[in-house]
Amino acid sequence: MRWNRIIPAALVAGALVIALVTLGASAPARSAAGKPAADRRARIEHGEYLATTMGCNDCHTPGTLYGAPDFSRRLSGSELGWQGPWGVSYARNLTPDPETGIGKWSEQDIVNALRTGLRPDGTMLLPPMPWQNSTRMTEQDIHALAAYLKSIPAVRHRVPDRLPPGQTPTGSFMAFPPPSVWDSPRTAPAGAPGAGEGDAKSR
Ligand code: HEC
Repeated sequence: MRWNRIIPAALVAGALVIALVTLGASAPARSAAGKPAADRRARIEHGEYLATTMGCNDCHTPGTLYGAPDFSRRLSGSELGWQGPWGVSYARNLTPDPETGIGKWSEQDIVNALRTGLRPDGTMLLPPMPWQNSTRMTEQDIHALAAYLKSIPAVRHRVPDRLPPGQTPTGSFMAFPPPSVWDSPRTAPAGAPGAGEGDAKSR
């Protein structure tokens, strides 16, 4: 036996074993790194499903209430005003544009607004924003919906400013006539102190 042949051969074999072990170890590491990305995609897809089936596009995607949603401007807000005892509100731009949308809100800010009806600055979401529905969502669902809103393309579109009661908007608007006795609020109107308490009890 020539040791000068065996030793290099053993070294090569050893190096091969190390390389194979390293490869084997890194393969699961790679798929573990891909898993969070796949989870995130699945969560966003679920959020898109919720936004669609919960009717967020109805008011927030232009054209939807006229029977022709324009999904190239998905959830970028509407200029149709909603006039009622609360003044005039406009379905706002929910895309991540930082100036005209909710790009500066964190996922948690969106979750809080959908749970409590309060924006990060503490102001109330006015009707007809149906936040009372989303208070009942599971943690998983409400976070998926918020993650989806953070993921959609930003669209630059400033909706008209809210108007206080008694002012008439210049653009198109829907006016709610005074409610019949049956529909009259038995609880304090939205935004008033104590609003929503009776509502929670009646559920
Ligand atoms: C019936 C119409 C309507 C539907 C349906 C609706 N919204 Fe709204 N939304 C509004 C209006 C109007 C406002 C503005 C309220 C205000 O000015 O205080 C608003 C405001 C918001 C805001 C606050 C944004 C901001 O910049 O202040 C968020 C977040 C929001 N909606 C999310 C949603 C989500 C998510 C859905 C679906 C689950 C949804 N909305 C469904 C009408 C609607």
